[in-house]
This record gives sequence, C-alpha cells and structure tokens, in this order.
Amino acid sequence: MQPVFAPHPLSRFRRTRRTGALRDLTQEVRLSTSDLIWPVFVRDGTGLREPIASMPGVDRLSVDLVVEAAQMAQGLGIPAICLFPYTDPARKTADCAEAWNPDNLANRAIRAIKARVPDIAVMTDVALDPYNAHGHDGLVVDGEILNDETVEALVKMALVQAEAGADILGPSDMMDGRIGAMRAALEAAGHRHVAILSYAAKYASAFYGPFRDAVGATGALKGDKKTYQMNPANSDEALRLVARDLAEGADMVMVKPGMPYLDICRRVKDAFGAPTFAYQVSGEYAMIKGAALNGWIDGEKAMLESLIAFKRAGCDGILTYFAPEVARSLRA
Ligand code: PBG
Repeated sequence: MQPVFAPHPLSRFRRTRRTGALRDLTQEVRLSTSDLIWPVFVRDGTGLREPIASMPGVDRLSVDLVVEAAQMAQGLGIPAICLFPYTDPARKTADCAEAWNPDNLANRAIRAIKARVPDIAVMTDVALDPYNAHGHDGLVVDGEILNDETVEALVKMALVQAEAGADILGPSDMMDGRIGAMRAALEAAGHRHVAILSYAAKYASAFYGPFRDAVGATGALKGDKKTYQMNPANSDEALRLVARDLAEGADMVMVKPGMPYLDICRRVKDAFGAPTFAYQVSGEYAMIKGAALNGWIDGEKAMLESLIAFKRAGCDGILTYFAPEVARSLRA
C-alpha cells in the first residue's frame, strides 16, 4: 500500500495526535487482557512460595498456590495459564521417565486447576528438559540429542497431559516431526479437542537464562541447544518451520523469544494468517524488571509498550510473566 497524503500544511499528522480522544480514535491495535497467557512455575510441597532471584516478582508455587494463582488469573480475565514444573533433581534420569508419569508435578497441577478453576485454559510444556539429567529437551545418547526416539517420548508425555485435562499442549522441544506424531496419537486416544500450540520458531537464545534458573536446569545443561533450536540469523527457515507444523496439525504457532524477533512474528502472521503467539521470555522480563527496580526506566510504561509491540507485529496473543500486572494495569 502506497501512503497517500497532501503536502504540508494541508496534511498535518499532529492533528490526530492532539488530544487523548483523537489518539484513541486513530489507534491501530490494542492490548487486552484476553491476549495473555500467563506462564507459572510449579514446585513440590504445600503452602510454598519461593522467589526466583533472576525474575523479580516471579515465584515458584506449590500446587495449592498454583490453584489460587489460577483463580486470581481467572478473576482478572486472563484466559490461560501455562505450567512449568521445577522437578526434584532426584527424579531426573537419562530416560526422562518422570515426563510421562501421570502423577508427576505438572500433571497433578493440571488436575488440581481443572478441578477448582475449570474455565481457565491450562497450557502445558511438552519437552524433556525438566526431567533430563542433561538439561536438554531431548534424549541424549553419546552427546547426541536423538530426534525420533525423543518424539516417541514426547508423545507419551502429551498423552498423559491430555488425560490430566490440559486444554493446550505446548511442544517447546524443536524436534522434527513431533506435531504430526502428537496429533495422530491424540486423535487415536480420543483427545480430539486438545489443542496444540507449537513452539514452531524457537531460537537458540541467551534470553532463556532466568527460566533455566527457575526450572533448575541451569546447572544441569551441558553445552547449548543449537542443534535443535534455531539460529538467530534465520528468518526464511522460521516460515518453513511454521508451514511444516501447521501442515502436521498445529492449531496455533509461536515465535520465541519475543522482542528481538518481532520481524518473524510479522512475517509468520502475513504468510499464514494462523493464530500467532509470541513468548516474551524470562530474559526479556528480567531486563525490564531489573531496569525498573533500579529506577532506570518506568516499569509499567515499558511493560505496556513492550506488549503493544507484539500486537503491532501481528500477534494474536503473548505469553508473558507480566500477565497479572498487565491485567491490573489495563483494568485501572
Ligand atoms: C524448554 C523451555 C525453555 C523455555 C520454555 N521452555 C528454555 C529452553 O529452551 O532452554 C524458556 C522460557 C523463558 O525463557 O521464559 N523446553
């Protein structure tokens, strides 16, 4: 589209910026609480709330407090919550069997939320890193992250999560072929309504640092994730991955991290028109919070600006640790 406007002074762009009313009228996109998915960290125990040093304001919660958090989120109008378990290191093994234990922490949390707060959508993480002694998202044999064997494990994991009552499965592992395998298994098991939000374009990023602290994977991780997560220099490859995952049956797709990858969000939305999400990851949250706590930026304004950027880039929704804060700020 070629912009058309009269020469100055016939056209003055400041006319539509002059008052709040005119700015509201001409605003192109809006951020709403219904755009938010809130990621939360779950731990063992009861009545426990444990701060995460590198994510000020974010805590690991025991299952009973996760249920309370879900209740609060629902009260604020947040449509979905996404669960990440902090697994007891003693339960991490080379075969990652805890991942498909129907009574593991994540599955207990899903059941507890669905029993008490049935209307909030529960999203899960499908990847082996919380269960893997190596901290990798896949099975590791002789230093190699195996693809097809990992997909078999992920399918078992997805099925127990669906059984526990998850509404949305979030494969974050970046193995090839996992969406098709999971979709087929879910259909065969009668879980026709369980949706898949594929982490389709997930980059090998330094911005995941605080998250790995939060789930206790930092010390465990050997090496990096570059053989399965994307090269930050690539953009055409993101489109091929999204096309592949949609063709395999993904209902929604995600770009991750968020702010450094807004160009990818825009390309994905323009190319496919599918429900498109971005994950404003732990490092992005930590940067904004850290600067705000030091008084270097206005935290609330920076938070809202960082999120409207996702809407402008074409995203339908955002996974963000700010979700309750945003909901309260938008409500005020
Ligand atoms: C791993 C996973 C990661 C995140 C979500 N799922 C980290 C990684 O790939 O190492 C990162 C989220 C964040 O940084 O907020 N399955």
